Amino acid sequence: MRQNMVETQIEARGISSPKILKAFMNVERHRFVLPRYISKAYDDNPLPIDEGQTISQPYIVAFMTQSLNLKQKDKVLEIGTGSGYQAAILGQLCDSVYTVEIFPKLGKKANDLFIELGYSNIYSKVGDGYEGWSEHAPFDAIIVTCSPTHIPQPLKDQLAEGGRMVIPVGSYPFQNLVLLEKRKGIIREKKILPVRFVPMLDKEGDRY
Ligand SMILES: C[S@@+](CC[C@H](N)C(=O)[O-])C[C@H]1O[C@@H](n2cnc3c(N)ncnc32)[C@H](O)[C@@H]1O
Repeated sequence: MRQNMVETQIEARGISSPKILKAFMNVERHRFVLPRYISKAYDDNPLPIDEGQTISQPYIVAFMTQSLNLKQKDKVLEIGTGSGYQAAILGQLCDSVYTVEIFPKLGKKANDLFIELGYSNIYSKVGDGYEGWSEHAPFDAIIVTCSPTHIPQPLKDQLAEGGRMVIPVGSYPFQNLVLLEKRKGIIREKKILPVRFVPMLDKEGDRY
């Protein structure tokens, strides 16, 4: 089922990097979904996880991963750990992944799974990802998997020179995936795909 997902949902839609395809073959997506959705783990859509959140559609995970143009030495920040699946994919393709989740239940569950599966280059914490993770900045790449209405300034500040950030920006349900690049201290932005993500929330549960 995993091979079929890689071939028909990811490769057939234009993701051709052998390293990315291999990462999707390596990571067992069925370990990241709720038990009642195991038979749907390789389907072509997002699935519900705890706390009313979602694990993203495999193709979107692949598209966002590709847009970051990762190198093996890169340090990556993810905002919105959720199930941990995107972090697990990133961990196959770079040096280290720092991932932040606002719901303690999700953050703890994902961290337990990283340990169980031996993903030792993924570091996770529970907190408000709007603020990034300044102790470990700067990051070569930043991926945001929940949607704010604007790009958080702390994330721009924590992007390294030459770094890339991919983030869904807008008001639910209409958002655009925006790709940012920092060169000589200047950030350039471009919209790359219309998408639909869960909102970025603050600690009171309000949308950013
Ligand atoms: C689409 S889901 C997660 C997808 C996830 N990357 C995966 O692979 O399963 C987005 C996640 O962002 C989280 N989130 C929302 N606002 C957040 C914030 N301010 N800081 C960190 N995480 C947040 C949600 O709780 C949710 O788990």
